[in-house]
Amino acid sequence: MEPRVYVLYENEEWMPPLREALQREGVPFEEWFVDSGVVNLAEEPPPGVFFNRMSPSAHTRGHRAGLSRTGALLAWLEGYGRRVVNGSRAWDLEISKVRQYQALRRFGIETPRTVAVVGGPEELKEAARRMPLPFITKHNCSGKGLGVFLFRSLEEFDRYVESEAFVPSPDGITLLQEYVEPREAFITRVEIVGGEFQYAIRADTSRGFQLCPSDRCETGEAFCPTTDQPPSADDEGEFDRQSLFDLRADLTADDPLVQRYLEFTRAVGLDIAGIEFVEDRTGRRVTYDVNANTNYSPGVEERYGLDAWGAVAGFLARELRRASGGDEGAPQTRPSTVGTGHPIPPSR
Ligand SMILES: Nc1ncnc2c1ncn2[C@@H]1O[C@H](COP(=O)(O)OP(=O)(O)O)[C@@H](O)[C@H]1O
Ligand SMILES: [Mg+2]
Repeated sequence: MEPRVYVLYENEEWMPPLREALQREGVPFEEWFVDSGVVNLAEEPPPGVFFNRMSPSAHTRGHRAGLSRTGALLAWLEGYGRRVVNGSRAWDLEISKVRQYQALRRFGIETPRTVAVVGGPEELKEAARRMPLPFITKHNCSGKGLGVFLFRSLEEFDRYVESEAFVPSPDGITLLQEYVEPREAFITRVEIVGGEFQYAIRADTSRGFQLCPSDRCETGEAFCPTTDQPPSADDEGEFDRQSLFDLRADLTADDPLVQRYLEFTRAVGLDIAGIEFVEDRTGRRVTYDVNANTNYSPGVEERYGLDAWGAVAGFLARELRRASGGDEGAPQTRPSTVGTGHPIPPSR
């Protein structure tokens, strides 16, 4: 079998821009939908490069099993020496903000004060009593702003954890975290591909915490941080989501924080990442989210002529040439033995 790029994914809605970019770049690729299924450790994976596009919010699309299966698939692929873009080290960070913050700290990157709580209402209430107010809650393993709520009083927090609005993180770890009030109502997201800075966008936070820039991510969880209220059904006004995002042209590759991000992503095996920070009124820049599974804002890209998916496709093409023993580096560790079996792709 000819080497190709295999994309491990579970959310169909995020695939079109990647597909188009790979096609434009002429990269041979195949898609592996990952949910429940088998990982046969005795079977040799096909030759090629594997791109992990799995998301820690898979459980919200009924693909909770995909989270566990991904860990096993990555171990299998890497065990056979395959190049996995955003491989197991990136995945370990992707599914745990606790691990993200500890990794960021090692690179001198400031993170919000955070307490991880395993347990139900009693443990949460006890931990909350040691938190300065206001604070926010969030899931340790998640995305899309799930479980992110702001609390200015303990009474409100107690009501929340006792109510049905409280949904645990898939790994059972709830974070209580310092609320870093933005100096202006926006956060910044820095996009990195293959260890290179692409651009930074700003995302307006005045309408809520759900800031996935992908056009398709419109769930009903929008929640205004200034009202202290969990989301209500009528909070979802009709508005153009893309208008929330804009290019942050003043933040460039030579910014010291961006430099640290580049050093960080290269060191921890994050090939492709979107890293978010918030700046408070004293100028403190606090990093609170590392996304291996990033989505780019089509609105911003169109307005400014940017093409981060093109950069991803170009990076995958280079990695594929390298893995196939091409002109851009050493071949994979076991190229001569691959391709003999009939690998079974993960089932649908
Ligand atoms: N510590 C914080 N202080 C202020 N705002 C925050 C903080 N953490 C998260 N937010 C807001 O909530 C949004 C979602 O939180 P985030 O940690 O990015 O979760 P997710 O992984 O679900 O995207 C952020 O984009 C930001 O607007
Ligand atoms: Mg985020």
